[in-house]
Amino acid sequence: MKIYIPGDAAAQSVGSDLVAVAIAAEAAKRNLDITIVRNGTRGALWLEPLVEVEISGQRIGYTNVTSDDAAAVLDGSHLSIGAVDSFDWLTKQDRITYKRVGIIDPLSIADYEAHGGFVGLAKAQKLSQAEIIAEVTESGLRGRGGAGFPAGIKWKTVMEAEADQKYICCNADEGDSGTFADRILMEGDPFTLIEGMAIAALAVGATKGFIYIRSEYPAAISQMNKAIEIAAPKLGNFELKVRAGAGSYVCGEETAMLESLEGKRGVVRAKPPLPALEGLFGKPTVINNVLTLASVPEILASGSAAYKARGVGRSLGTQIFQLAGNIKQGGIVETGFGISLDELVNGYGGGTLTGKPIRAIQVGGPLGAYFDVDKLSVSADYESMVTAGGMLGHGGIVVFDDSVNLAKQARFAMEFCSIESCGKCTPCRIGSTRGVETIDLIINGKDVAKNKELLLDLCEVMTDGSLCAMGGLTPLPVKSALTNFPEDFGGAK
Ligand SMILES: Cc1cc2nc3c(=O)[nH]c(=O)nc-3n(C[C@H](O)[C@H](O)[C@H](O)COP(=O)(O)O)c2cc1C
Repeated sequence: MKIYIPGDAAAQSVGSDLVAVAIAAEAAKRNLDITIVRNGTRGALWLEPLVEVEISGQRIGYTNVTSDDAAAVLDGSHLSIGAVDSFDWLTKQDRITYKRVGIIDPLSIADYEAHGGFVGLAKAQKLSQAEIIAEVTESGLRGRGGAGFPAGIKWKTVMEAEADQKYICCNADEGDSGTFADRILMEGDPFTLIEGMAIAALAVGATKGFIYIRSEYPAAISQMNKAIEIAAPKLGNFELKVRAGAGSYVCGEETAMLESLEGKRGVVRAKPPLPALEGLFGKPTVINNVLTLASVPEILASGSAAYKARGVGRSLGTQIFQLAGNIKQGGIVETGFGISLDELVNGYGGGTLTGKPIRAIQVGGPLGAYFDVDKLSVSADYESMVTAGGMLGHGGIVVFDDSVNLAKQARFAMEFCSIESCGKCTPCRIGSTRGVETIDLIINGKDVAKNKELLLDLCEVMTDGSLCAMGGLTPLPVKSALTNFPEDFGGAK
């Protein structure tokens, strides 16, 4: 009998290691011959630890298992969602990039290959560099780290650059609030990221790669290191290393990440030159998010047409949404772009955990806009989010109930920027501090009209004058809070 007990950080945080020990002990007591697989989470985080017992090829899922429940799980009497393959919340999704996460043993190459692993790389090895890039461009794949830049165009620039050395850098800093899809993928299916990076390396002619993982992700760091060692024979002359970040939000900004990778303080660089031309150690460098690179193997394996058949407009393929904050059913939802925010937070998410009405959602991390419930009908795709006054970012959605105060959230955005600013440019470094002071004056009812005007003026300076999107986008949550929730700033709705 095979028993799958998630070993990723999310499941570990709610006791899955103790559950594994208890189930092994109970099985030994009963002389049961079992194999425990430490898989990744399926992403239904509110059900963790979700233990799956495989009987005649079918996996039955037992929910919120504790170490006291070992006997009930083995008896089949514990609370269950039944066959995991028929679990509505999962079957409704369209898992492409995440197709193996939670299903396979993350560190078994045999399991990876049995579930379609390395098919994309094998295809890429038969194509020319230009043909690989054409396939990625044709798929419509855009960067999942936040900016949504087309991956194929970036790769073409690096391929065409003349240099004795090129690099592939994977951005796994994942600093956005309410996001965890990079981590869950790295812990649950690390070979997919490695395969995607190997394809990128082939496409642009790079021989070295780095995965920059935030130091707050020790389990992902360890998992990726193990997976790289196991996969090395498959990678030819492509040498891949993990580097741990030092705990700074701005180190997720691509040029600050390059500085950090070079061993320097994580301060942003002025652009141009673009990293694609002068990136790591001054050499042409592909920088892509974990999810961008992890989407590539399937695009090569099944073809760009199948990938771009999903999504809407210029937002093609699937997005891995992350539901967080005050939400009943938090976790990972991979589905084609174009699903409504309502379907995500009320459909998949089941509304707030407190049961109180939703008052606001923040989409796209700490620099994303605060939407009121009127915006729940908006389609979750790059263009519609911008039209609605926000951005999709890395696909994180944080839900707030009616106890939230949006003036305080706007203050938090400015304060976050002042703490996390790298300090290189004045609008971000000083503007954010003045922003906190100005919001405090508004909250305390001092010259409200005048200070609101000043705050908007300051936001304009930050948007136009900041060196990177850290200062450039901080006005988005602030202004959206002011516009969508004026009553929290002493105004009328
Ligand atoms: C302040 C700031 C933080 C960022 N953090 C991340 C991050 O944690 N992960 C990420 O992939 N991109 C992050 N980005 C975006 C990167 O600068 C860059 O656009 C991205 O890594 C490119 O990869 P992609 O094209 O695959 O999205 C951040 C940008 C800014 C301005």
